Amino acid sequence: MSLNPRLTDWQGRVVWLVGASTGIGRALGVALHARGATVVVSARSAAPLQAFVAQHPGSHAAPLDVTDREACASTAEALVAQLGGLDLVLSCAGTYQPMHATQFDLDVMLRHQQINVAGALNLIGAVMPSLLAQAQTGRGGHLSLVASVAGYRALPNALAYGHTKAALIHLAQSLHLDLSPRQLGVSLINPGFVDTPLTAQNGFTMPALQTPEQAAAAILHGWAQGDFEIHFPHRFSRVLKALGLLPTGSYEWLVRRATGLQ
Ligand SMILES: NC(=O)c1ccc[n+]([C@@H]2O[C@H](COP(=O)([O-])OP(=O)(O)OC[C@H]3O[C@@H](n4cnc5c(N)ncnc54)[C@H](OP(=O)(O)O)[C@@H]3O)[C@@H](O)[C@H]2O)c1
Repeated sequence: MSLNPRLTDWQGRVVWLVGASTGIGRALGVALHARGATVVVSARSAAPLQAFVAQHPGSHAAPLDVTDREACASTAEALVAQLGGLDLVLSCAGTYQPMHATQFDLDVMLRHQQINVAGALNLIGAVMPSLLAQAQTGRGGHLSLVASVAGYRALPNALAYGHTKAALIHLAQSLHLDLSPRQLGVSLINPGFVDTPLTAQNGFTMPALQTPEQAAAAILHGWAQGDFEIHFPHRFSRVLKALGLLPTGSYEWLVRRATGLQ
């Protein structure tokens, strides 16, 4: 059963990708532009956004810090006024710094909350009125949140990151419950490891590592299928899902054994 309207025809669709200066968001911008969408890319760094626009005619750059609630609201308002609506909004901005409980750093913890969780809320708050209004006219709309397989269950050195992604998973579930009867699509994207600036700091061999282009292809496939949760690669994400069902003792034993981390 399809849980969302299927997104297959991107020609002329307006897509706002927030967290798209690099990595997964940028790769999605490239793929959607190639399929005829009008792409708006946002992130804090203006230079890579301008470079994207120069390479992808007809696209737009909207530099933005998602922790700035007012900037999210004013940018959303300006984009709706300029482009006539938003067919897909992607919340992809994120930060990740490995942390173990023995190195607890409150500033780092709160920074993860502010970007990964409050940033997503600022964006959702900014676009919700226009998405709801659009749905009433029959145009529909789609909200997509990038969380992570790290949000399924605790993983080593993910103290600052993991709980923010767990929050996004729950948030997306609630949004889907409330919005899908109102003709708005909501999807949850849970990537495994993807080779981006975010993961470049990982000092271990990342299992089932994907390129950003592979991630973008998996996401486009999920949107076309009308999936609610888009997780990939399946050979990795399904293992983590299965592990997540285990009792705590067995789960922790297996994770420590697999990673060699205490
Ligand atoms: N790579 C992986 O293995 C992996 C796995 C699971 C989930 N994810 C998630 O996928 C998303 C994209 O990550 P990525 O791997 O593609 O990493 P990335 O290349 O580092 O992309 C992160 C994006 O977020 C933007 N960003 C960060 N803080 C921001 C802020 N305060 N306001 C606006 N934009 C901000 C960054 O641009 P600026 O710095 O210019 O603002 C960049 O465009 C993240 O939510 C991440 O948690 C990644």
